[in-house]
Amino acid sequence: MYSKKTKIYVAGHKGMVGSAIWRILSANGYYNLLGKTSTELDLRNQEAVKQFFTELQPEVVIDAAARVGGILANNEFPYQFIMENMQIQNNLIDTALKSGVEKFIFLGSSCIYPKLAPQPLREEYLLTDVLESTNESYAIAKITGVKACQAIRKQFNKDYVSLMPTNLYGPYDNFDLNTSHVLPAMIRKFHEAKETKNPSVSLWGSGKPMREFLFVDDLAAAIIFTLENKLPDYLYNLGTGEDITIKELAETIQKIVGYQGRIIWDTSKPDGTPRKLMDVSKMNSLGWKHKINLKDGIQHTYTWFLDNIERIKQVKIN
Ligand SMILES: NC(=O)c1ccc[n+]([C@@H]2O[C@H](COP(=O)([O-])OP(=O)(O)OC[C@H]3O[C@@H](n4cnc5c(N)ncnc54)[C@H](OP(=O)(O)O)[C@@H]3O)[C@@H](O)[C@H]2O)c1
Repeated sequence: MYSKKTKIYVAGHKGMVGSAIWRILSANGYYNLLGKTSTELDLRNQEAVKQFFTELQPEVVIDAAARVGGILANNEFPYQFIMENMQIQNNLIDTALKSGVEKFIFLGSSCIYPKLAPQPLREEYLLTDVLESTNESYAIAKITGVKACQAIRKQFNKDYVSLMPTNLYGPYDNFDLNTSHVLPAMIRKFHEAKETKNPSVSLWGSGKPMREFLFVDDLAAAIIFTLENKLPDYLYNLGTGEDITIKELAETIQKIVGYQGRIIWDTSKPDGTPRKLMDVSKMNSLGWKHKINLKDGIQHTYTWFLDNIERIKQVKIN
């Protein structure tokens, strides 16, 4: 149905996820790719989005544009997280539908599932209980995107599908300590402590929560799989199906970075959801499976961090 010359718009193509999608699409021979930075096209601006679709007429849209952040940013800027994400995705989804786009891949995250949902998280647990309060705004915005795409499938019979990746990491991640996710934050903290010979590193929470991490190139491979196959359902989890404690994650990163000091767990800071593991059997049964293990992925990310230390991304919110 789609060929290497299909015009594919990757929204958010300079972000961690978008740039991985762009790299892997290019490596697989897709050459008709469209991308705009937020300065060139602010996706919160409905008129600008409409104009872009009218002028460039993408055939497929992959939505990797979002206001993204870790626990601290989510907690402090709930308005930006709900409103900007709804604006971005509403403009993209609605304009794509009205422009005749047949295939739309929407990216959400595992935080759409209830805080205390049974583990591992299955797609059908969506909207069965209350959300984790620290990222409720972000999750609600993402849920509305999933539901809009589901409604389009049902009402207009178009291939609009939502993928929910677990925690992602890799090249081009955000390493700002105020807005980043746990894994890049730890890489930066251990690296800086090693460089400054700091005897200890303080990390948020108890270290007890369990989390799952997917290398971003594995996610990009799942996007290609979704592009090249018409998936039968509206919602799919993406992950490794394996989780570790935050403490184990910290020790793994500490070892890879080569930091010799002590870890102090700051239990005055929130832990977030106790456990978040995706049930990925639905997507695995169709044929996609992750390939990169956590140690290799962290090693790759740390090497990238060292090679790009002068220009690592530090997302500020205002
Ligand atoms: N990171 C994770 O762990 C994770 C986990 C699960 C799901 N996801 C999902 O993956 C997607 C991408 O996340 P990411 O980690 O790649 O985030 P990211 O690195 O922060 O990238 C976000 C992208 O969105 C673009 N963007 C933000 N606001 C925009 C606006 N108003 N107009 C146009 N573009 C805008 C940014 O463009 P500029 O750089 O040009 O400003 C950037 O390219 C999100 O939907 C997220 O929910 C991420």
